[in-house]
Amino acid sequence: MNQQQQSQEQIEQQIERLREQLRRHNHHYYVLDEPLVPDSEYDRLFHQLKSLEEQYPELITADSPTQRVGAAPLSSFKEVHHKAPMLSLGNLFSETDLMDFEQRSRNRLGSDDPLDYEVEPKLDGLAINLRYENGVLVQAATRGDGTRGEDVTRNVRTIESIPLKLIGDDYPRVVEARGEVFMPLAGFNAFNKKALERGEKPFANPRNAAAGSLRQLDSRITAKRPLAFYAYGVGEIDADPGVTQSGVMMRIREWGIPVSPELQVVTGAKACLDYYHDLMRRRDSLAYDIDGIVYKVNSLEKQRVLGYVSRAPRWAIAHKFPAQEELTVVEAVEFQVGRTGAITPVARLQPVTVAGVVVSNATLHNMDEVQRKDIRVGDTVIIRRAGDVIPEVVSVVGDRRPVDTSAIVMPQKCPVCGSDILRTEGEVVARCSGGLYCSAQRKEGIKHFASRKAMDIDGLGDKLVEQLVDAGLIEDIAGLYQLHVEDVAGLERMGAKSAGNLMDALHKSRTSSLSRFLFALGIREVGEATAKSLAQEFLTLDAIMAADEERLQQTPDVGPVVAAHIVSFFQQPHNLAVLGKLLAAGIEWPEEQRQQGETPLQGKTFVLTGALSRPRSEFKQQLQQLGAKVTGSVSKKTDYVVAGEAAGSKLKKAESLGVTVLNEAELEELLTA
Ligand code: IVH
Repeated sequence: MNQQQQSQEQIEQQIERLREQLRRHNHHYYVLDEPLVPDSEYDRLFHQLKSLEEQYPELITADSPTQRVGAAPLSSFKEVHHKAPMLSLGNLFSETDLMDFEQRSRNRLGSDDPLDYEVEPKLDGLAINLRYENGVLVQAATRGDGTRGEDVTRNVRTIESIPLKLIGDDYPRVVEARGEVFMPLAGFNAFNKKALERGEKPFANPRNAAAGSLRQLDSRITAKRPLAFYAYGVGEIDADPGVTQSGVMMRIREWGIPVSPELQVVTGAKACLDYYHDLMRRRDSLAYDIDGIVYKVNSLEKQRVLGYVSRAPRWAIAHKFPAQEELTVVEAVEFQVGRTGAITPVARLQPVTVAGVVVSNATLHNMDEVQRKDIRVGDTVIIRRAGDVIPEVVSVVGDRRPVDTSAIVMPQKCPVCGSDILRTEGEVVARCSGGLYCSAQRKEGIKHFASRKAMDIDGLGDKLVEQLVDAGLIEDIAGLYQLHVEDVAGLERMGAKSAGNLMDALHKSRTSSLSRFLFALGIREVGEATAKSLAQEFLTLDAIMAADEERLQQTPDVGPVVAAHIVSFFQQPHNLAVLGKLLAAGIEWPEEQRQQGETPLQGKTFVLTGALSRPRSEFKQQLQQLGAKVTGSVSKKTDYVVAGEAAGSKLKKAESLGVTVLNEAELEELLTA
């Protein structure tokens, strides 16, 4: 072997070694969620490989981790014939349906034994078949009609969590992994935000975003979209798949293909339901949208016995969550006045049940949103209700627009007090300029004062506040403590007893805490957490009132805007008058004690970077239990950056912003303090 051949061989080996390393790191990062090395180290290896490949382009292979950037546009997608058809799933909608499914399966299997199920979330994205031959991703195709799909290989290659080459050496010669391509919510929101800034149309939901991104003829566009993938099954495979569905999934996970971390095996329908309810509760805190649960009989032998009906397996079924989106019609739009005078357009809807609750109003947020979504009275709209948030209008169904719609126009005068509505240049929110003259603002201020997290005045609900203000019995929050039992007892639907109870509750509410009182005052931008920090920082109301903006900003959580609102609040004569009356009425609180170390990490923001000796997810969980937030990127708002071995760009950024940097030992100390 001559000199040159030898060095060529060495280079080939070096390139292959780099590729193997990068694949292993990808696997740990995307599949196991336990990065082995910091991002900077990954970048270093990546660039080393890239420059070697630039020097020796003849050594570039399609499965190299560098080959993900996308390629020149196609004129159309090629058709792909699926060797094993891509099936659909039956649905069930109730607990009885699930019991029936279990009973039917047992009957067919001729056994009354409890069944094991592999259970996992039903992802809301786009089904994809990934074909690996000799460990290399050779083709990715959409489901299409189940038999024929589209070849989206170029696009799928740009999805970082999908391995271009499998890891290990025990993968079969041919294996097809099937799963869902989806867009995690963080990426979706960021993408839409940018689209709006550029004046482009945002995606209606993450599902559309995933589908739209994957069906781009220009894969360079797909490469810029934050897509992810979880496998949920296999297609063609030329090896013995083993004995259980969960076993198959664990094997493909070992080969480097991501599988949902929520996947579990449970026994019996009752346990399936527990899993369903658990995930439904956690639905809104997941990083991606799911629309239900899929239950799969775990034994592959039992799957064979159960077989298929038309295009769906008898051994698997989807249990959908109640829909979060429904269609309805905008019947009218009203303008609500908030505590700070903010005017919010609210759509009055034809009542419709969404996720089990009848919805007849939805917020339109502000006029920019109304314009962007092009909403008119009379339109059929998609409304969405997720978790406990106020229902919102997602989009208009364009082809259902009747001819006689009317435009939504922001009034010039406050619908409650008639004062001018003003919109400051550069602000999205328009406000009533009436201040305390506006009864709507006063009512909202009183409701806020009485609310559970503020002064917690039992029995003083929204309705009663409105009655009290409308009857002229109170003008502002101070008036509450001047009320007489006979005034209240005379109100509609009140009696001597409930009036007496309210008096007791008011009396009781006079003793609270500085932070509750501060929050209750309704100073703009001073939420519960900020009120707590202020109380901790200053200990007394007098000290807060005496502080200037600069001094206020030394409080955690308080920036220039909040500080300005606080100062201006305490400068207004009418606020001082109300404050005086409240204190004269006997509002008091025990002296504030500086809390040392109770939950020292409450509200603190952490970023973890570099390689740590335990999985990041463990640290993350511990930190969250102590009330801290853990985010992915370093900004001025970050309190601590924990830098593990060989931390890279995030550490640099922390240093440049002057963010406190901890090493792992210091973090452990904080956690055990
Ligand atoms: S299993 C043979 N599992 O739902 C069973 N499907 O309604 C095939 N889907 O086309 C599907 N998450 O795109 C399965 N965890 C999951 C899923 C899932 C989403 C989609 C899939 C399928 C559709 C059927």
